[in-house]
Amino acid sequence: MAVYSRSAPKDLLDEIKHLEELFAIDTTKLKEITHHFADELTKGLSVHGGSIPMNPTWVMSKPTGHETGEYLTLDMGGTNLRVCQVTLTEQKSEFDIIQSKFRMREELKTGVAEELWEYIADCLQQFIKTYHGDVTNKIPLGFTFSYPATQNYIDEGILQRWTKGFDIAGVEGHDVVPMFEAALSQRGVPVKLTALVNDTTGALVASAYADPKVKIGCIFGTGCNAAYIEDCGSIPKLAHLNLAPDTHMVINCEWGAFDNEGKVLPRTPYDISIDKGSPRPGQQAFEKMVAGLYLGEIFRLIMVDLHDNHDAYIFAGQDISELRKPYSLDSAFLAAIEEDPSKNLSNTLELFQTDLNISPNAPELRLIRRTAELIGTRAARLSACGVAAISIKKGYATCHVGADGSVFQKYPHFKARGAQALREILDWPEKEDPGEEDPIEILPAEDGSGVGAALVAALTLQRIRDGNMHGILHPENFN
Ligand code: BGC
Repeated sequence: MAVYSRSAPKDLLDEIKHLEELFAIDTTKLKEITHHFADELTKGLSVHGGSIPMNPTWVMSKPTGHETGEYLTLDMGGTNLRVCQVTLTEQKSEFDIIQSKFRMREELKTGVAEELWEYIADCLQQFIKTYHGDVTNKIPLGFTFSYPATQNYIDEGILQRWTKGFDIAGVEGHDVVPMFEAALSQRGVPVKLTALVNDTTGALVASAYADPKVKIGCIFGTGCNAAYIEDCGSIPKLAHLNLAPDTHMVINCEWGAFDNEGKVLPRTPYDISIDKGSPRPGQQAFEKMVAGLYLGEIFRLIMVDLHDNHDAYIFAGQDISELRKPYSLDSAFLAAIEEDPSKNLSNTLELFQTDLNISPNAPELRLIRRTAELIGTRAARLSACGVAAISIKKGYATCHVGADGSVFQKYPHFKARGAQALREILDWPEKEDPGEEDPIEILPAEDGSGVGAALVAALTLQRIRDGNMHGILHPENFN
């Protein structure tokens, strides 16, 4: 519902109307996007492929709940590096976890590859010293590496491209595992990489461990993506391996790349500008419209544009130099605007004053709020298209989706808006009882990069013990 009032100056109302036209996505368009999305998922599995990578992960089963053992996990996230020791216990679906977080300095993300691997190895070494003391046998590690990577083997990850603002030379096109292992062996860190795991795969596996209805794992955070379980018979690009058609394979979709060719997504001039100014123009078209890294930036670009180029001319006479700084506003800034409970949007005024040194007037505050709503709503509705596309492709009439990420967890109304969009796309009847579950429910995931990555390591070791060596590059590593 629009929060602006009719008392706003006409030119501001016109701007709001224009933004609504740019950002609103009606049911018909949602359906069109979803159906094209489902086709593109299928295309990604074909021999020729499409723009969605649909990467096989060599995770070939869900956990049973009876996995046991002690594992290390490492998550190289955007802001933190998280190391965990996970003990999967005899008790069904139970585990103990010890964790440490290390800060990922901004410079590491655009610096030199060796420094990144050395820093990671140092963090692991520090963690092991603190919690393990002397180690006799190398500890198996599940490494959550949340970037598109080709995995011919579960202990391999050829980086297809950096996403989420990372830009480190000399890594794209290469297997990151030997680089990482070189840094470990230089320091004598007693760890062996058992599995390289995408965060969506971790979310899927960890959530399915606790809830057997979970069929899809999603991340709606700095980046955005999903994983689900496919039958090998539906993966033509793996046909040469002659796996039985009913063999399961978790697919890391990398759906952030959906519609890179610009066929269906209603991109605005602001989306195009984000893409052009990014380290990888032409990549991650869908992600750039929905993921946390970009939401604040879309908002910032609109505000600057309305100051500079339009009849409305917002923030007249004020110094907007702070607002001109690229990526100075994050999705938490947008979330705070949407969460402002005051009628006169006084919290938003304060936020603008403290963070940007700008004092918007009342009509401008209403335009700010409406803009945040439009960006947040579009992100949630487009995200739902991805979930609906997997469900349609797989014929899931009902299921649970395990979702994680800062946008999913913290962005106001994201869940409700996503659920509403799913209802529209999949033509669900209105609920009779508001407490009733939706046929497809997107629920908070279990800890994917901790317990999820440990479970993937456990499943891999079990597979080797069972003699299923498909997708294992270094079986000798696992003795
Ligand atoms: C990456 C994915 C990841 C997602 C969520 C995207 O930018 O390409 O691998 O799953 O972000 O973290």
